[in-house]
Amino acid sequence: MTDKTYSKTPFDEYAEEYDNWYDENKKMYELELEAIKKFIPKPEKRKKGLEIGVGTGRFAKPLGIEYGLEPSKSMAEIAKRRGIYVYEGVAENIPIDDKSFDYVLMTTTLCFLNDPIKGLKEIKRILKPNGKLIIGIIDKNSSLGKIYESKKKKSKFYKYAKFYSLNEVLNWLKELRYKNIIYEPIKLYKNDEGSFIVISAEK
Ligand SMILES: C[S@@+](CC[C@H](N)C(=O)[O-])C[C@H]1O[C@@H](n2cnc3c(N)ncnc32)[C@H](O)[C@@H]1O
Repeated sequence: MTDKTYSKTPFDEYAEEYDNWYDENKKMYELELEAIKKFIPKPEKRKKGLEIGVGTGRFAKPLGIEYGLEPSKSMAEIAKRRGIYVYEGVAENIPIDDKSFDYVLMTTTLCFLNDPIKGLKEIKRILKPNGKLIIGIIDKNSSLGKIYESKKKKSKFYKYAKFYSLNEVLNWLKELRYKNIIYEPIKLYKNDEGSFIVISAEK
């Protein structure tokens, strides 16, 4: 998705529908939320956090993340209603100064970036020294990843997604010299081997 085209995505057309998914799939939402929460600095530490691809704020709000970056105006509108301060823009070209944030969350968004390596590099730039990056992905090689990939063409939202494997993401983080890289696979349903993976790394 480029700066020029980002106003016409399915996220702009169907933002309310996207947001409603979380009410209709509470169990999965709660599992993802809990998994990410473990990696987020505790509120009493008063760390400054940003969610990249904040969407409608379904994660930022309950996780106490005050800032978001979002290319879709309709998604951003809903996040703003939830009290999130939203910068308009894309991960590949973040309109934020160097060393501004203690931590950055990016969940189910990496697969929408035109250039994920550029995005991860930009995130490192805006993190403070030793700042933390938390990423949530659906692993391309997992059972859910394979289902998403096979149904992609019919999905409003995932039509344009490019899923990545855990190893691809880990390799990029290593190439970009992120430190202390750890990850945790999360089972989202019965018999799932851990399709949702939370990865944490430091600048
Ligand atoms: C699947 S949604 C995830 C939203 C939110 N993180 C959540 O989990 O509910 C992906 C979001 O990434 C945004 N997005 C798409 N391309 C992007 C880019 N290049 N940089 C940042 N965000 C992007 C979309 O507009 C959308 O809001």
